Amino acid sequence: MGWPHIPESLYCWPSTTHTHTSTDTCAHTHTHTHIRTQGMDMGDTQIIVGEDRAARILSCSLQEGINGLVSKSLEAKEFAYCPYSKFRVGAALLAHDGTIFTGCNVENACYNLGVCAERNAISKAVSEGYRTFKAIAIASDLNEQFISPCGGCRQFMREFGTHWKVFLSKPDGSYVEMTVDELLPVSFGPEDLKKKKVFTIQNGY
Ligand code: THU
Repeated sequence: MGWPHIPESLYCWPSTTHTHTSTDTCAHTHTHTHIRTQGMDMGDTQIIVGEDRAARILSCSLQEGINGLVSKSLEAKEFAYCPYSKFRVGAALLAHDGTIFTGCNVENACYNLGVCAERNAISKAVSEGYRTFKAIAIASDLNEQFISPCGGCRQFMREFGTHWKVFLSKPDGSYVEMTVDELLPVSFGPEDLKKKKVFTIQNGY
């Protein structure tokens, strides 16, 4: 679908005009607008106005955290191995304790074996014992639209919860913030496997 209907006023940019706050150790905070208002757990939020797609004034630490994650995804993109598609993708995954795992797409001469950047980052994290994630930033070379994760990657993210953040970026560092649930609504997940069924498969089925 792309992002033709998101007004520019809702984008987030890596550097903007600053407004001052009282207690921050930083000299300033960045004034930004977000398309979401709920579930943020990456720093302090000072002001929330309105409902959906509301404006937010974000603290310096939060904004710098997001910008840092987006820039790590842009750096990860540099390692993309994509001789077939020539489409570079990078991802940076923020785990619960602040650890960041990066990933890029890795293609293969046997085309269907290629792996996406997001799945690489998540697999790296899980293989090192991490299963709780706060956010993932995704980067590509698309100039005029925010990179949108493929369906497989959305499901891969969903395995580890529906309420964490996905930052879809552009090469200039601007981004749109969404949640896994927004990207994959009415999803199927690990909990569904445990629900009551009309038929129970016996051993030996
Ligand atoms: N790709 C990703 O790495 N992530 C996505 O979300 C979209 C697509 C990669 C897969 C393939 O290597 C290339 O981009 C073109 O599809």
